[in-house]
Amino acid sequence: MRKIICKTYEEMSATAAYIVAEQVRTKPQSIIGFATGSTPVGTYKQLRSLYESGYVDFSGVTAFNLDEYYPIKHDNDQSYYYFMRDNLFSHINIKEENLNIPNGECSDPAKECTEYDRKMAAMGGTDLQILGIGNNGHIGFNEPADSLSLATYLVDLTEDTIEVNARFFEKIEDVPRQALTMGMGGVFSSKHILLLINGSKKAPIVKELFSGSITPQVPASLLNLHPNVTVIMDEEAASLL
Ligand code: PGA
Repeated sequence: MRKIICKTYEEMSATAAYIVAEQVRTKPQSIIGFATGSTPVGTYKQLRSLYESGYVDFSGVTAFNLDEYYPIKHDNDQSYYYFMRDNLFSHINIKEENLNIPNGECSDPAKECTEYDRKMAAMGGTDLQILGIGNNGHIGFNEPADSLSLATYLVDLTEDTIEVNARFFEKIEDVPRQALTMGMGGVFSSKHILLLINGSKKAPIVKELFSGSITPQVPASLLNLHPNVTVIMDEEAASLL
């Protein structure tokens, strides 16, 4: 895994945004895997600026998002449907028909997951997958476990993740207990994975990520097996390396 250590969160975000923009400038029909959470917010802000300045055109881009809470309504401001529009999609010229996010309103999650994978596979996987990492090493909502799913699936969130994500909700009881997440197969289908990590809270998991061992108990550690991963961190996240 290639490491880029940036001084600040802003520098990390700008570096990531340029990598995404270069991908789209090189291949205007790129398929981009997008992530949610607080980590990529700065990257999306920079991408909006790059779009506004005319540097990058998203009209040919197709998006596949990593995950979504389940169940959740699109108009819930904590849904990833809402998050992606609020932070990026509503501000750039990506086409509505090219947006794919697992549907938190679906009535048949198993069918939704199968269809999501079928559509992504038919397009050949993603060209670039943006990822964050949980304090517990999860990627998307692939939580630490004895075995990990290849396919997109309905997952029970761990107590740890529910607690960490409660900061976005009014009260912890409002955090959905389940989510639809791209599995490890979907993540690995990407030609280039861009893992973004910032802040001192992530320093211990960064140390594990680069410890030289892989385990499903740290789902992100499996990324060591992918041939093309770029990890962009700020100095705080990299402080224990
Ligand atoms: P965060 O979440 O960006 O809000 O820290 C990352 C993740 O859980 O994947």
